[in-house]
Amino acid sequence: MTEIKAKNYSIFVSSDICNNINRFLKANKKGYSKIFILVDENSLLHCYPPLVEKIDAFKDAEIFEIESGEENKTIEVCIQLWGALSEYKADRNALFVNLGGGVIADLGGFVATTFKRGIDFINIPTTLLAQVDASVGGKLGVDLNNIKNEVGIYNNPASVFINSDFINTLHIRQIQSGFAEIIKHALIADKNYWLKLSSTDFSETDFLDDLIVTSINIKNKIVLEDPNEKNIRKVLNFGHTIGHALETFSLESNSQISLLHGEAVAIGMICESFLSHKICKLSKDELKEITEFIFRNFKPVIIDKMDSHRLIEIMKHDKKNEKGDFNFSLLSAIGTCEINKKVSPELIIDSLSYYSKETKHFKL
Ligand SMILES: NC(=O)c1ccc[n+]([C@@H]2O[C@H](COP(=O)([O-])OP(=O)(O)OC[C@H]3O[C@@H](n4cnc5c(N)ncnc54)[C@H](O)[C@@H]3O)[C@@H](O)[C@H]2O)c1
Ligand SMILES: [Zn+2]
Repeated sequence: MTEIKAKNYSIFVSSDICNNINRFLKANKKGYSKIFILVDENSLLHCYPPLVEKIDAFKDAEIFEIESGEENKTIEVCIQLWGALSEYKADRNALFVNLGGGVIADLGGFVATTFKRGIDFINIPTTLLAQVDASVGGKLGVDLNNIKNEVGIYNNPASVFINSDFINTLHIRQIQSGFAEIIKHALIADKNYWLKLSSTDFSETDFLDDLIVTSINIKNKIVLEDPNEKNIRKVLNFGHTIGHALETFSLESNSQISLLHGEAVAIGMICESFLSHKICKLSKDELKEITEFIFRNFKPVIIDKMDSHRLIEIMKHDKKNEKGDFNFSLLSAIGTCEINKKVSPELIIDSLSYYSKETKHFKL
């Protein structure tokens, strides 16, 4: 069992999280008046049963089930959940449990934080992405009109409980999606971690716990230094400026591309490594190393010229752009990231062309 100290809460990574959760519940002296567990159909099916078997307090909990998928990370779903909490007469001493992936964590945390101006919530992340990324940093919220995370707030859970066994029932694409964030953590902060990733078999489960802990530690250290993203925290946006635009694009109804968050970030990391090479000292060799490694783990995606121009339009909505140029976090080397790098739209188009050209060498 590993305990990571985040801002004012702990993240437990353990094969016996039931024990940690029971201890957490016992430590709350006044006791929670009622427990509400937010799930989607997949976390209800795969993750709830082993927990309720060993956590007595969960037997009397109310289960709120929402439909899975990013398209449900909306204010309309929040309204339903606030209504349900009201109906069940939840008071300020209620506990909200987010059992699921990043959608459940972002939306459930937002609902709990805003209901009666805030009730306690804990996260039990059940996807690799939610474990290594959404488990730390306090970003909560929902999408609006297909714009990701347009409405939200910062707040931390009372605790986070991670069991990597939950990954076993995940679809392979979902595992890869989480792996993208792990790659990002190595690229922005830790060359040795990168070397380890490139040389170890990802399917070994012992190794997986190690990856989760290392990744959370990297993100946690950055977030503790700059909780409100004024400064150094922006390094976590590496791969995400273009990645987010791709993700938004893939949510648009006429888009031919379907991308999960991490899949979009993987493409974003190749494009932004190209930008890093052009304007931020990343060597040609390291650009090649990153490109090859990502293509070994992610299927190439066709992005045509029309898509590129639409992506620039989407990026203009992004809060990170300034006066026509776009603001990026870029690598000066593997393991070192610099913030506030200005990039022109033309160079972004070039980076997408670089990605497209490289796909030809890496057909799976
Ligand atoms: N707050 C943050 O810091 C932060 C960081 C990264 C991502 N996010 C957000 O997280 C979301 C993406 O997270 P995600 O990839 O976990 O998506 P998700 O929550 O949609 O989960 C992906 C799919 O896996 C299913 N699932 C969950 N656990 C499972 C399990 N153990 N076995 C089988 N299926 C399971 C879900 O039902 C869903 O179909 C995005 O909305 C993103 O914006 C937030
Ligand atoms: Zn991300």
